[in-house]
Amino acid sequence: QNKNVLVAGGAGYIGSHMVKKLLDEGYHVVVLDNLSTGHKKAIDQRAKFYEGDTRDKAFLDRVFQNEDINTVIHMDAFSIVPESMKNPLKYFDNNVIGMIKLLESMVDNHVPNIVFSSTAATFGNPKGNRKITEKDPQNPINPYGESKLIMEKIMKWVSKANHLHYVALRYFNASGADASGKIGEDHHPETHLIPIVMQTAYGQRKNLQIFGDDYDTPDGTNVRDYIHINDLADAHILAMKYLNEGHKSDSFNLGSSKGFSVKQIVDTSRDVTGKPIQANDAPRRPGDPDTLVADSTKAKKVLHWKPKYGIHDIVKTAWNWKEKHPEGYQKY
Ligand code: UFG
Repeated sequence: QNKNVLVAGGAGYIGSHMVKKLLDEGYHVVVLDNLSTGHKKAIDQRAKFYEGDTRDKAFLDRVFQNEDINTVIHMDAFSIVPESMKNPLKYFDNNVIGMIKLLESMVDNHVPNIVFSSTAATFGNPKGNRKITEKDPQNPINPYGESKLIMEKIMKWVSKANHLHYVALRYFNASGADASGKIGEDHHPETHLIPIVMQTAYGQRKNLQIFGDDYDTPDGTNVRDYIHINDLADAHILAMKYLNEGHKSDSFNLGSSKGFSVKQIVDTSRDVTGKPIQANDAPRRPGDPDTLVADSTKAKKVLHWKPKYGIHDIVKTAWNWKEKHPEGYQKY
């Protein structure tokens, strides 16, 4: 069986963990990244690296002609909700055009399978406190979520017209780090809650801001479903196997099925790090839904996915990365 996998966005936070896991499991990995937000030092030395942009069809054709790829894992997109509210065109350009060019090149070069990083943000602001299943309506409330929904739809229609199969994995809040402490989350600027809480615990910022305390949730702060990055990586390997076994294209929600409020994350982080962590109330951040919690029954049943990490492991591994590499990849 062809074990050659291309990870688009393999220098990113999620991509670098994906690449490590694939290599550890005996896959041959080709990384494609334009390093616009990813880090060269995050790419595992055992992988083959092509620097370039997914919107560049000629570049993609060259890669596919050089490498006999069976599956593309597409993690190559901008993913910051507040940034997308300010600059929607940046998101539609990079994410949607990137998907179109990638699929064109896959079809032209007879690459059969794609596993796509989609997101809970495609569901918008679901009403009530139910966990979100794959049957829930997708009505994004930010351009990031909209761009990913468009990408899902493009993939679906292209797969109907061509010999191409896909799995869309809708992640909830990807978090934590590999226990080795060698790779982790490092965005500039950082906007994600857990790394910001870690910066505060480490003393790199005096306090963090809690964006909104009047949401329709038990303590008024947003509720999210935090899922460990290595559990996500496992799900991709299972999705690849699923496609290689000839099953039909499909979509799955990936979360821990447990919701934690912003305040609960801060409290858990105080516990895990033993640091006081000053948090101040601040106005709402545009584009934030009240609650996003996954129902991952389908992924567990169909893909046989078994997430292993809980919220303590997530914060613990994020803290381990912070203590080992306080400046991220900058002073690596
Ligand atoms: N938050 C704060 N203070 C901060 C940073 C974040 O209160 O300094 C809050 C946010 O308002 C939000 C929660 O913490 O309520 C989580 O925010 P993140 O920025 O960490 O993550 P998001 O939920 O906005 O988005 C993340 C990914 C998206 C993905 C989404 C899926 O960045 O790509 O999870 O649920 F789509």
